[in-house]
Amino acid sequence: MSKKYKATIYFLTNNTHKYEEVKPIAEKYGFHIKMCKDVEKVEIQSNDLLEIAKYAALHAYTKINKPLMVEDAGLFVHALNGFPGPYSSYVFKTIGYEGILKLLKNSSNREACFRSAVVLIYEPFIITCLGETTGTITTTPRGNKGFGFDPIFVPSGSSKTFAEMSINEKNMFSHRAKAVKSAFKKLEKMLELGLKTGISNSIDDK
Ligand code: IMP
Repeated sequence: MSKKYKATIYFLTNNTHKYEEVKPIAEKYGFHIKMCKDVEKVEIQSNDLLEIAKYAALHAYTKINKPLMVEDAGLFVHALNGFPGPYSSYVFKTIGYEGILKLLKNSSNREACFRSAVVLIYEPFIITCLGETTGTITTTPRGNKGFGFDPIFVPSGSSKTFAEMSINEKNMFSHRAKAVKSAFKKLEKMLELGLKTGISNSIDDK
């Protein structure tokens, strides 16, 4: 690490796309992000993204005992009553985005949203944040960047799918960028307050 960072935050994910999206945001707030692949991300079954992320974060924290971030996201399609939502990972692995397009074949309602839940553990703080991006589902996939359902989702305010955007562009719209930004904003505030009130925080990365 040549640059001077406030600390390293371990990001519990195997998804390099997520890492590439989160990295520039963390750096803007002065934090170094490292992908943490060697600790299992325990995924409980729940309808609540935040519950899923919280459980995974607390479980991983007991293993690594270092500043840690977990992010859990899902695509919620209105005409499908919010499906796949918290089951997005399984649905993507099984029927893919083609499956979602098939399910919506006769639907004129193309509204959907992505939601992201972030849990950031930075002792003595546990910060939780949510981010949401509304948009529409295309009729055919477009673009080859990004991952998951990116080729079929157009965020409100753009005519491009996430898969047609660079990381910087996606970060201007995405659910993940919103949740991660508010997590770092909160952390910044907490550290300021903590330091002022004498709560002990080690912000040196050793
Ligand atoms: P995860 O549990 O946060 O990894 O997300 C579950 C699934 O939702 C992933 O496997 C992706 O298919 C999908 N997903 C989550 N975030 C995004 C995104 O930013 N773009 C496209 N698909 C996403």
